Amino acid sequence: MAGAKITALGTYAPPGLLTNADLERLVDTSNDWILERTGISTRHIASPDQATSDLAVEAAKAALLQRGIDASELDAIILCTVTPDMMFPSTACLVQHRIGANKAWGFDLVAACSGFVYGLTTAAHLVMSGSHQKVLVVGADTMSRIIDYKDRSTCVLFGDGAGAMLVEHSGGRNDFLGFHNEIDGSGGDNLKMPAGGSRMPASVESVTGRLHFVKQEGSAVFRFAVKKMEEACARVLDKAGVSADDIKLLIPHQANRRIIEAAAERVGIAPERVVINIDHYGNTTAATIPLATGDAFAAGRLKKGDIVLFAAVGAGFTVGANLWRWGF
Ligand code: ACO
Repeated sequence: MAGAKITALGTYAPPGLLTNADLERLVDTSNDWILERTGISTRHIASPDQATSDLAVEAAKAALLQRGIDASELDAIILCTVTPDMMFPSTACLVQHRIGANKAWGFDLVAACSGFVYGLTTAAHLVMSGSHQKVLVVGADTMSRIIDYKDRSTCVLFGDGAGAMLVEHSGGRNDFLGFHNEIDGSGGDNLKMPAGGSRMPASVESVTGRLHFVKQEGSAVFRFAVKKMEEACARVLDKAGVSADDIKLLIPHQANRRIIEAAAERVGIAPERVVINIDHYGNTTAATIPLATGDAFAAGRLKKGDIVLFAAVGAGFTVGANLWRWGF
């Protein structure tokens, strides 16, 4: 098998902001509670005319611009999201058309907060097989459309955003050092949007029951996330024969500052080597990892050749960790 490398990164966060002070006016909460329990102070929120594909297109264009290539060179687009523009066609199709990726195929990948990690794993295997040269992985979510702004236990957590990475075939060195992905479907009831699918199509009852919004058992998700984030990181490091000391940066999914800190401590990665940007964005689901990587790269914390560990836990439950040598 040939290798894979990450050659570009693009991000997009819509300009609208939702602060803790704004949320204090919507529900019975406080800036102190939100900051202490989650680490979040503000979130980016899409404007009413922006859907997930609009965010994804901006991130995709930024990645292509950085690499200096045209969208027509893409072989595939993997669009990771739980908030597609509509049930079908897929958001991958909408983005393919909008950016002019006229020879790319693609699909939506639904793995909630682990979506981007699963997307990177899939893209790596497509290019390593030799059948694809350039695969664009986009994580994009407009969580504000499925959040109940009357439910204080969830509405403080989420924001909107998008990020994209270009994964390319490498004839030489393989930068994809390993992965460990798993699902545990027994946890499905802990985090879900009950209505809008074939089990419970939209009806007057589903709307009045507020069932088109995210429902979460927060503490069950929290406990699972800390345990599995650590386990997935340990498994991927072990399989790759890489020690925690070799990791330049751990870039985890941003769901809660306390989850990240607890998991990083258990894996043995010091706080200065962990990327946390949840304070500005909240949980943007599939977009957190590329957004955090973008911030780390812009701050000069990530250089070509550095070993980077991506890790996530999300609804499903889904769990994923990927180990990469940073490619540019
Ligand atoms: N403001 C003030 N009080 C609140 C708020 C709020 N926004 N939300 C909950 N509370 C209250 C609760 O009602 C409860 O009050 P009670 O004791 O009187 O019943 C109290 O705070 C404590 O509630 P807990 O749920 O125990 O609080 P916890 O410390 O667990 O924090 C949180 C809640 C932040 C939701 C946490 O559990 C969490 O982050 N869970 C994981 C979230 C996550 O990782 N999601 C996965 C990814 S999302 C995806 O995949 C799409």
